[in-house]
Amino acid sequence: MSVDIKVENLSVVFGTVKQQEEALKLIDEGFSPEEIKKKTGATVANKNVNFEIEKNELFVIVGLSGSGKSTFIRTLNLLNKPTRGSISIGGQDITKLNKEELRNFRRKEVSMIFQHFGLFSHRNVLENVQYPLEIQGVEKDLMHKKALEAIETVGLKGWEYSMINELSGGMRQRVGLARALTNDPKLLLMDEPYSALDPLIRRDMQNELLSLEEQGDDRTIVFITHDMNEAFRMGDRIALMKDGEVVQIGTFTDFFKHPANDYVRDFIADVDRSRILKVRSVMKKVKNALSPSASIEEALEFMEHKEIDSVYVTDDKNMLLGVVLKEDALNTKNKTIKTLINDKTYQPVLRNSYIKDVLKDLKESDHDIPVTDSKGRLRGVLGYDDVIDALAE
Ligand SMILES: Nc1ncnc2c1ncn2[C@@H]1O[C@H](COP(=O)(O)OP(=O)(O)OP(=O)(O)O)[C@@H](O)[C@H]1O
Ligand SMILES: [Mg+2]
Repeated sequence: MSVDIKVENLSVVFGTVKQQEEALKLIDEGFSPEEIKKKTGATVANKNVNFEIEKNELFVIVGLSGSGKSTFIRTLNLLNKPTRGSISIGGQDITKLNKEELRNFRRKEVSMIFQHFGLFSHRNVLENVQYPLEIQGVEKDLMHKKALEAIETVGLKGWEYSMINELSGGMRQRVGLARALTNDPKLLLMDEPYSALDPLIRRDMQNELLSLEEQGDDRTIVFITHDMNEAFRMGDRIALMKDGEVVQIGTFTDFFKHPANDYVRDFIADVDRSRILKVRSVMKKVKNALSPSASIEEALEFMEHKEIDSVYVTDDKNMLLGVVLKEDALNTKNKTIKTLINDKTYQPVLRNSYIKDVLKDLKESDHDIPVTDSKGRLRGVLGYDDVIDALAE
């Protein structure tokens, strides 16, 4: 089970206790971090940050250098202490954990990938990856098994006994990811993991994380970058930070349709929408799905009520079984819709596909297209108009 996160009124100030007190007062009086620095000498790295991250969300924080991104993500596992405010993870206020509880939380529930790899250069790949399990005191055989699994997951099979300094930047990043996955964290914190990589390798790593997310267990991911293209390519939702504050939070569509101010407009100006836009960023919520045991009567009433002429059919695991057309429901003597399910008419697209790759299918169809994840679960619905809207200037 992954976790949800709720951050309330969080401020992080670097300085002495006295400086921190003064700085908090000045924050409340509406002074900017720059003014507060001048008046008190303290650095306000995060200022009144408020937001919620949903379970299973891939949440991206983006902002220029010094905007407070690393401070924020480090505060999520209490490597920094909040000067004020609260952070609740999976319903638990982590600022209230005692030492023992915090140690367990860090070892078992959350993993962090640091901005500069943070690997041990005197250890080989396997020894690096198994390190978190080692400090947990996991028994040797199990530790080995889990570390080897993680190494395979990130595509480094065969490199187990290589030393870190024999690896390229991209491979080191994979080691970092494998190490972060060994304890099967509910929450994965990634601080600019790909910033040091070449564009092509970076794209590979981005895609790999997305497919890992699809195949793997439930996991909430907080991902930091200073690259807006990367942010929109990866994120379900994005928070843009400036001077320690969150300027805007939302989906791709929110940012482009309703930029909060000129700063946001400037920030997104260089984003190449046609290249990065994904199905998952544009799809709508599913409103017309029924289970195969629904009666014909129920289905017809449902379609009447919603003024639609077809419904998706999903099982109890949300797997898309197909579609039932209104005309078929009107012309049957059967009791339930089960026998009417048609799995050929509406071919689904994958939610991680790029829009440019599904545009043709979409153009040629006269209806919305169902969107699934790689396991075949129905995740959304894609309409041609929504895509055109999202691409339009
Ligand atoms: N331990 C610390 N002590 C004092 N000041 C700090 C500390 N950590 C960060 N800061 C300051 O807090 C501010 C925000 O820094 P932070 O590292 O969070 O920014 P960032 O958005 O991650 O930047 P980058 O993109 O360069 O990594 C900066 O002014 C920085 O100098
Ligand atoms: Mg940083």
